[in-house]
Amino acid sequence: MKQILFLSSLAVFFLLTSCSSSGGDDDDGMIPSGDDPVALKAAQDYYDDNLKTFIADNCVSCHENYHNKSNASNYGSFARARAAATSMFNQVNSGSMPKGGAKLPQDDIDKFEEFRDLINAIN
Ligand code: HEC
Repeated sequence: MKQILFLSSLAVFFLLTSCSSSGGDDDDGMIPSGDDPVALKAAQDYYDDNLKTFIADNCVSCHENYHNKSNASNYGSFARARAAATSMFNQVNSGSMPKGGAKLPQDDIDKFEEFRDLINAIN
């Protein structure tokens, strides 16, 4: 009887450890399906290198207030900028944003366009 108990607890032990190790193998499944990880990284790097500071300086102050009111988001993080990439480009390209300010220099508008294209390449 003791032997059976010992064997079954051994079996439970192996069941548990095999579960947790296969859980590790499943990590790739955490990337939302349809997201190309290479393109995602490229867009993230582009945002960090070219837009994050610019948006923090030129957009976030207004957008925190405005977007808090509308319960949407500002563009100070990659995830939020990603969701609004096309809209941001359209707004700066038309000169509607920054609101009340001069139209951005073409160099800066180009960065929003490049970012939109990189986002569209992710999935
Ligand atoms: C002076 C404040 C102000 C600044 C600066 C500003 N925005 Fe806005 N933005 C607004 C307001 C207010 C709206 C809502 C629509 C409107 O009133 O024109 C808006 C709307 C938008 C929208 C349309 C989607 C939405 O949320 O309604 C986008 C995209 C946007 N802004 C992007 C930007 C970007 C990118 C910058 C920086 C280059 C920027 N804005 C700078 C105030 C601002």
